[in-house]
Amino acid sequence: MQCSWKAILLLALASLAIQYTAIRTFTSKSFPMCPVPNPANCSSGLDPTDSPERLCEDSQMLTFNFSRKTHILILATTRSGSSFVGQLFNQHSDVFYLFEPLYHVQYTLIPKMTQNKSPSDRRVMLGASRDLLRSLYDCDVLFLENYIKPQPINHTTDKLFRRGASKALCSYPVCDALGPTDLYLDEGDCVKKCGSLNLTLAMEACKDHGHVAIKTVRVPEINDLRALVEDPRLNLKVIQLVRDPRGILASRSETFRDTYRLWRIWRATGRRPYNLDSSQLTMVCDDFLNSVSTGFSRPSWLKGRYMLLRYEDLARNPMRKMEEIYDFVGVPLDANVERWIQNNTRGDQSSAKHKYGTVRNSAATAESWRLTLSYDLVEFTQNACRQVLTQLGYKTVGSTQELRNLSFSLIEDRTFMPFL
Ligand SMILES: *[C@@H]1O[C@H](CO)[C@@H](O)[C@H](O)[C@H]1NC(C)=O
Ligand SMILES: *[C@@H]1O[C@H](CO)[C@@H](O)[C@H](O)[C@H]1NC(C)=O
Ligand SMILES: *[C@@H]1O[C@H](CO)[C@@H](O)[C@H](O)[C@H]1NC(C)=O
Ligand SMILES: *[C@@H]1O[C@H](CO)[C@@H](O)[C@H](O)[C@H]1NC(C)=O
Ligand SMILES: *[C@@H]1O[C@H](CO)[C@@H](O)[C@H](O)[C@H]1NC(C)=O
Ligand SMILES: *[C@@H]1O[C@H](CO)[C@@H](O)[C@H](O)[C@H]1NC(C)=O
Repeated sequence: MQCSWKAILLLALASLAIQYTAIRTFTSKSFPMCPVPNPANCSSGLDPTDSPERLCEDSQMLTFNFSRKTHILILATTRSGSSFVGQLFNQHSDVFYLFEPLYHVQYTLIPKMTQNKSPSDRRVMLGASRDLLRSLYDCDVLFLENYIKPQPINHTTDKLFRRGASKALCSYPVCDALGPTDLYLDEGDCVKKCGSLNLTLAMEACKDHGHVAIKTVRVPEINDLRALVEDPRLNLKVIQLVRDPRGILASRSETFRDTYRLWRIWRATGRRPYNLDSSQLTMVCDDFLNSVSTGFSRPSWLKGRYMLLRYEDLARNPMRKMEEIYDFVGVPLDANVERWIQNNTRGDQSSAKHKYGTVRNSAATAESWRLTLSYDLVEFTQNACRQVLTQLGYKTVGSTQELRNLSFSLIEDRTFMPFL
């Protein structure tokens, strides 16, 4: 059974798997991965926790030379403050940062993905995601072309998701509107002025940076990344970002107004809609719980590779947390990052640009959900997520008065040391 997951998905998931296999086959020259295992030889006595990628690792080792870079992954969920954390790396002059490249994997493989992914969809998504992450950490940016629709022509595209959120892609020489001494453009100007993205130039820019950082909200939990964490060709550092699920719920209800409509109806009417999809909430808590429990159990494969970060701690003390983060990843600090923090955590609400923006009064917003969620929604969340709230040090409230009384914080002082 050892190399069975790809075999199973090949059999069970014809169309998706064929599409995915085709992508891998077309690119097998530039993409040194194991061949899809043949179900006929799945019987050798290997460790069942071994991922298929590891089976042929030795023969592929020689073609890789990743070692000098640090590979940073921000493992997050939507509305947990991941754009903010992303900026802590994006602003660093020696970090090549990509904002959610796995968007393209999802929209190619599972265009109509609903909240309730089937387990097999989830497995395909994760397999493809790990492959793409591995390629991107190797600066093989062209590998993304397999997933960008429409397919890039002559290695250029204007369809890269949130290209403007990546400083390196909005600077000279990748942005053809800029010269060597120009500052990078902000997200809106970048998309307007920089023209199509030349992926070859993006690849070269990646290689010119000392480190690669990628943010994603499309990997559910740390166990899904084990094959990458253990990959000896990578030097992966995972920053798991968590936030109070009550804050996530409040923020999502405001941001994803259609998807979270029923939660807003509940809040407005005081009555829980019969067709409310509570998995929109419970999935967040389950994923946190799985990840954080794994992290707390300190398995040897995560040693030195995992840091748990509460968004609220970052919001309260961005400078100190930033230093801890850089200490953990082992990359020297950069004055640009400090300047960015100083400039963007002073509470200038007027400069908040759009709903995914990072520019806002971080400390004040971290607990502002307490003024917008109704008590019964909060109570529901506390019941659904009790275990993870306790684990992460978020206090529960017992009444509306307690909920609204911002003079006592619901965030317990906790120190989550990365284990080294
Ligand atoms: C797997 O099986 C195929 C055909 O059954 C064979 O050609 C191949 O060499 C086998 N691979 C390994 C690693 O045993
Ligand atoms: C790997 O990269 C280092 C640093 O760039 C270089 O010195 C070394 O020769 C490379 N090794 C191989 C096998 O390419
Ligand atoms: C792609 O490049 C080729 C060769 O430089 C050129 O002939 C062709 O017109 C280009 N295609 C597009 C769509 O720009
Ligand atoms: C993209 O950049 C590469 C490297 O500089 C260059 O050779 C290529 O012509 C550029 N492609 C286009 C379509 O401009
Ligand atoms: C700080 O923000 C202002 C206004 O957006 C901008 O003009 C300035 O360049 C920023 N400074 C730094 C160091 O980011
Ligand atoms: C709010 O909480 C503080 C600290 O626990 C407490 O001293 C105060 O009485 C509370 N105020 C109200 C209105 O409940």
